[in-house]
Amino acid sequence: MTEKVTWSQRFESALHPAIARFNASISFDIELIEYDITGSQAHAKMLAHTGIISPEEGEKLVTGLEQIRQEYQQGQFQPGIDAEDVHFAVEKRLTEIVGDVGKKLHTARSRNDQVGTDTRLYLREQITQIRQYLREFQTVLLEIAEQNVETLIPGYTHLQRAQPVSLAHHLLAYFQMAQRDWERLGDVYKRVNISPLGCGALAGTTFPIDRHYTAKLLDFDSIYANSLDGVSDRDFAIEFLSAASIIMVHLSRLSEEVILWSSEEFRFVTLKDSCATGSSIMPQKKNPDVPELVRGKTGRVFGHLQAMLVIMKGLPLAYNKDLQEDKEGIFDSVNTVKACLEAMTILMKEGLEFRHQRLAAAVTEDFSNATDVADYLAARGVPFREAYNLVGKVVKTSIAAGKLLKDLTIEEWQQIHPAFEADIYAAISPRQVVAARNSYGGTGFDQIQQAILSAHTQLS
Ligand code: ARG
Repeated sequence: MTEKVTWSQRFESALHPAIARFNASISFDIELIEYDITGSQAHAKMLAHTGIISPEEGEKLVTGLEQIRQEYQQGQFQPGIDAEDVHFAVEKRLTEIVGDVGKKLHTARSRNDQVGTDTRLYLREQITQIRQYLREFQTVLLEIAEQNVETLIPGYTHLQRAQPVSLAHHLLAYFQMAQRDWERLGDVYKRVNISPLGCGALAGTTFPIDRHYTAKLLDFDSIYANSLDGVSDRDFAIEFLSAASIIMVHLSRLSEEVILWSSEEFRFVTLKDSCATGSSIMPQKKNPDVPELVRGKTGRVFGHLQAMLVIMKGLPLAYNKDLQEDKEGIFDSVNTVKACLEAMTILMKEGLEFRHQRLAAAVTEDFSNATDVADYLAARGVPFREAYNLVGKVVKTSIAAGKLLKDLTIEEWQQIHPAFEADIYAAISPRQVVAARNSYGGTGFDQIQQAILSAHTQLS
């Protein structure tokens, strides 16, 4: 039988040890300890401010809590499972330190509003950190884009060569995804930053508390309007996990491209030794483990989002112990997203070498300039659909003859249509094909220069 827990007076016998282990969250919610202390300090100050406890008592609680923070940071406070959860652990230790006044801390509060407060304080800080990681990732993408405005790379649809694009354009697409991620997290932050403290167990409290006071001390933007909602809302967690999942989607897509690019079939990039690993049996192998792990870890973040949605579905008001299950998924998602952003930033910054000769050859060895031939005719008055059909035939006969469009003689071009002139060769060179796509947001070099300028503005 285990040691007596806080609520044991109402019970005849102690908890079965296996059930105590099953019930306890201390093994993982210890992650919240510093937020729990900060939240409790605000609560203690409010109790003193409103006269619910004396100023001296408030002072003792705040100082005692600060001592627990020190003890924890120095590794001297390591509560075991008899504490059940981090909230009981801190309260128990506080009473050991400050004596009976420690037992006043939980006046006008429940663990239900307490845990909601802690989780929000934790997520708030984590969101700020993840946004910083996103900024670093974006900065690296932008740097590589700036160095590669004129580097051409095949652009794909259906994973078939479609039209060549600037490598900068390709990387700036990921920059914009990360920009939305950064903005989305800023938006999630607004819903995280609402205080449930003072909602009590579910219905509020009989004490004359001041919820605005604690919210202000803890830097919350506002407070929950309804106590039932305040203690049982986890929308903010669902929102965070969904923003985290979308970040992982973006990282996973980039990972997949890097994996393809580094394959013998593409050969667009070489993985540098600092970011690649070898095989235990095949001596020639250099494996893209970093992007593979990022792609693989995406699954667990999606899983945590799904779990959170299922936890909430069908949950009656207000607090239910099911909500204890929110934490591990949140913590793991935070850690996973940070680790993946860090690894991808390093991989992009120093782990990849673009093979410029190979890329230059890749954009000249296919028919990805066929649209430009059709556009050439359309610009000279031939209806686009007619031009398109004509070029389709040319592609077919060229493939049969083992030729590329650039290999056709001027006579052959003019047999196809009299509108073709000697400038057709320049018009279908990969560089010109890219430069000409100068519509807003397109891959044309002028557009990319603009996009780079806007990206700097977005970062500033
Ligand atoms: N460890 C609990 C959790 O994480 C704290 C709240 C417990 N509340 C309760 N009424 N049993 O949700």
